[in-house]
Amino acid sequence: MVVMKARGFSTVVFFLILSCLWMEGPCTSHAQTDTLRPGEFIGFLDSLVSANGRFRLGFNRFVDSSNNDYRYLRISYDEDGATVWVANRTTPVFGSGGNFTMDADGFLKIMHDQGSPIVLNPNRASRNSSALLQNDGNFVLTELNPDGSTRQILWESFDFPTDTLLPGMKLGVNLRTGQRWVLTSSISNNVATPGAFSLEWGNNGSGIEQLIARRRGEVYWTSGALNLNDRSFENILWMTFFPSNYNFSYISNENESYLSYSVLDGALSRWRLNPEGGISDILNPVFLSSAACYRSPGCQLQEPACKSETDAFLQRPGLFRGFPLSSEGNLSIGLGDCSAQCWNTCSCVGYATLHTNGTGCELWSRDLNFSVIETGNSRIVYVLNSTLAEGGSDAVNGNGNENNWWIWIIIAFAAVLIILALGFLCYQRRKKLQEDKEREDEDILLELTTSNEIGNDGRKGHDLKVFTFASIMAATNDFSSENKLGEGGFGPVYKGKLPDGQEIAVKRLSRSSGQGLVEFKNELILIAKLQHMNLVRLLGCCVKGGEKMLIYEFMPNKSLDFFLFDPTRRELLNWTTRYSIIEGIAQGLLYLHRHSRLRVIHRDLKASNVLLDGDMNPKISDFGMARIFGRKETEANTNRVVGTYGYMSPEYAMEGNFSEKSDVYSFGVLLLELVSGQKNNSTFHHLDRPMNLVGYAWELWKRERSIELLDSKIGDKNFRSQALRCIHVGLLCVQESAIDRPNMSDVISMLANETVPLPAPKQNAFSTHQKLVEISLSRSVQESCSISASVSDIESR
Ligand SMILES: *[C@@H]1O[C@H](CO)[C@@H](O)[C@H](O)[C@H]1NC(C)=O
Ligand SMILES: *[C@@H]1O[C@H](CO)[C@@H](O)[C@H](O)[C@H]1NC(C)=O
Ligand SMILES: *[C@@H]1O[C@H](CO)[C@@H](O)[C@H](O)[C@H]1NC(C)=O
Ligand SMILES: *[C@@H]1O[C@H](CO)[C@@H](O)[C@H](O)[C@H]1NC(C)=O
Ligand SMILES: *[C@@H]1O[C@H](CO)[C@@H](O)[C@H](O)[C@H]1NC(C)=O
Ligand SMILES: *[C@@H]1O[C@H](CO)[C@@H](O)[C@H](O)[C@H]1NC(C)=O
Ligand SMILES: *[C@@H]1O[C@H](CO)[C@@H](O)[C@H](O)[C@H]1NC(C)=O
Ligand SMILES: *[C@@H]1O[C@H](CO)[C@@H](O)[C@H](O)[C@H]1NC(C)=O
Ligand SMILES: *[C@@H]1O[C@H](CO)[C@@H](O)[C@H](O)[C@H]1NC(C)=O
Ligand SMILES: *[C@@H]1O[C@H](CO)[C@@H](O)[C@H](O)[C@H]1NC(C)=O
Repeated sequence: MVVMKARGFSTVVFFLILSCLWMEGPCTSHAQTDTLRPGEFIGFLDSLVSANGRFRLGFNRFVDSSNNDYRYLRISYDEDGATVWVANRTTPVFGSGGNFTMDADGFLKIMHDQGSPIVLNPNRASRNSSALLQNDGNFVLTELNPDGSTRQILWESFDFPTDTLLPGMKLGVNLRTGQRWVLTSSISNNVATPGAFSLEWGNNGSGIEQLIARRRGEVYWTSGALNLNDRSFENILWMTFFPSNYNFSYISNENESYLSYSVLDGALSRWRLNPEGGISDILNPVFLSSAACYRSPGCQLQEPACKSETDAFLQRPGLFRGFPLSSEGNLSIGLGDCSAQCWNTCSCVGYATLHTNGTGCELWSRDLNFSVIETGNSRIVYVLNSTLAEGGSDAVNGNGNENNWWIWIIIAFAAVLIILALGFLCYQRRKKLQEDKEREDEDILLELTTSNEIGNDGRKGHDLKVFTFASIMAATNDFSSENKLGEGGFGPVYKGKLPDGQEIAVKRLSRSSGQGLVEFKNELILIAKLQHMNLVRLLGCCVKGGEKMLIYEFMPNKSLDFFLFDPTRRELLNWTTRYSIIEGIAQGLLYLHRHSRLRVIHRDLKASNVLLDGDMNPKISDFGMARIFGRKETEANTNRVVGTYGYMSPEYAMEGNFSEKSDVYSFGVLLLELVSGQKNNSTFHHLDRPMNLVGYAWELWKRERSIELLDSKIGDKNFRSQALRCIHVGLLCVQESAIDRPNMSDVISMLANETVPLPAPKQNAFSTHQKLVEISLSRSVQESCSISASVSDIESR
């Protein structure tokens, strides 16, 4: 347990060392190498890194809620942690001891203490070999000549594709060896076992080479003849899927027949066949074969069987109540199979995987007892939208047949009697249960303080402290109103001082969060792992009865809005300070989006959520709040929680779609605010029209008068070119279409390199339709709840 007691330099060193111990990150102590030679090995926490730093080969760990604890040897993108290849995907390694090694005979082996070694190259090996993780992500085992040159390639990972196609990989067939290069989806994001879908390049008996997608062996989509390098108008449909920097190769000769591609500027690209049959590229996240599955999210149906034209499955966070129609524990089936089974079973109205790791399948029909309970927790169920529509979105009761109304009256009458009779008994039991619950809570908290092994990535430990309620009461002077710092989206915040003198901020979460303690604990541990100098640090928590409190480090300079939007305090923010605040926020956001491995989307970035420490360093707060609160809760507190008007991107406000790019939008607004010293929702009169800051900045930009936007309170004269660049970047960030907006790493390089030319921004959305947005706001925020959160599957990468 670590409490920040020491201060200054020693603290920094201490935390650096600690973070090295915890994160299998860039500072893992052993030297990084891209080569494995006979006799060498990498442990569970070690990895090989390609020379260009882009790819990493190592183990990743999963722990599901049934306590299955397993690892795969995989190659991942170092930048976002996404898995691009898995070795021997059908045989994950259970247990806590093992390594990956090349033995003296040149066999690549996954060693583990739960069984015999898994050999990657059982058929070809040589004592004189070396295995290299190349810059293109291919892991290649070569036999060497005595002089160290390559004699021949014995084995390469590109010959055993999993669900991801990288530039340089082949899709097709080696006609000499019969080896086929086929993508096969995984069962789920957590289990790499081959799933229902595959994608291959072949002629399908028709003589025309084409892409063929299958589910469980049956063709469900073919591309027809393709020339993806043809950029003519006729090919426009295809070109919308592939950015112009792709270069496709079609090779067909007596030795092999395949499709592969390269990306001209070396940009990050990978095609992934996801567990539900969709194909998308990280460069262009559009689903290629939309007919992949049976109208489960992200896909559309080819042929309705006994379902109607207007049926589609919707994702719901929650559980089914009642009795399942069928329940199958087969570990080789997953969501892709389950949706098809439900689609083809006439009475089926919903499905879910049986196990929390995404395997198995349960089908549900609409019997008398059927309903969907939205719990807002991490379980996801899939329900036909017509079923939801009939019964309301929250709890759906089956069989709403009007002829049966009298049955319901009888049932209701009986229920009232029973309730009265049981009322007294219940009261007594509840007392006892409450006692039990408190004891249980204590156990869970005890576990939190003592658990070391957490997460699914092998990182160890966290320094979360569980504070007693009494100590928090003492620290905040019984939550006295003098100590109240403000009211955040999720509840009031109090200042406190611990007996050792450390100052803290205590956030009391509103009681209605409805989240269980176990989920709360899991979320906390995740958030505790997000450590970055531009994020407010979570020190610990406190739970008392139904109330939960988060304890943060205290920020003496309050929040950015305290300075920025106050006419006198604003003068304290000179340009240098503002610029370093801009950079800090950008770095913090990039970390949340890219480097934290959880990929958190903040969703409510604004001046009041940027806190300032004693040196005016910005720290983003309230991140992870969206995680701590389930979607149900988000729905309940919409206006306060999900976004703030003026900072919300159009696609989020209107359609409820959120992504990294919605945070980029908010960042753009913040950038304009910092440069101008004006609130986004202040009204500017320009051309005799009222408009907000974003609109005003756009109008000035169009007339090449951006200079007028600069805050007159910034004395500094030579800041102009930097500030104008900030306005330019800000306008790029608030562009109407999310695709046009840069991502955070682009933003950082745009800000840092003054010489890089910037594209001209396109018109932003809210400058013209302010009214429309306000009207659609109440509607949109509700819709946002039906959109799946993209954070949930990220941990598995
Ligand atoms: C590798 O793992 C195996 C199985 O757990 C173990 O027996 C062996 O000692 C390990 N090798 C090294 C070098 O750690
Ligand atoms: C592991 O994968 C290799 C291909 O790289 C295959 O030849 C071998 O049979 C697999 N071993 C097991 C135990 O699945
Ligand atoms: C391995 O290299 C040595 C010389 O370094 C050579 O004598 C030997 O024949 C080689 N063995 C194989 C199997 O190539
Ligand atoms: C070829 O693809 C079509 C769909 O385009 C499919 O109906 C047919 O069965 C396929 N033929 C073979 C041999 O797979
Ligand atoms: C596309 O790839 C082919 C073969 O891989 C290469 O010969 C050609 O020069 C590439 N085209 C461009 C524009 O780079
Ligand atoms: C096919 O393979 C043979 C033997 O490896 C080689 O000599 C020939 O050049 C190859 N053909 C093509 C078109 O690459
Ligand atoms: C499990 O599902 C797979 C894939 O559909 C199938 O091949 C296998 O026979 C099933 N196993 C059992 C025991 O039903
Ligand atoms: C998935 O969960 C089931 C049930 O808990 C378990 O039997 C199975 O081993 C798990 N799969 C993996 C790869 O851990
Ligand atoms: C509904 O639940 C009751 C008991 O909970 C059970 O007896 C009855 O069979 C269920 N009805 C159906 C259609 O499953
Ligand atoms: C269900 O979804 C489909 C496809 O998105 C849509 O066409 C249909 O109108 C929806 N039906 C209901 C009842 O919402």
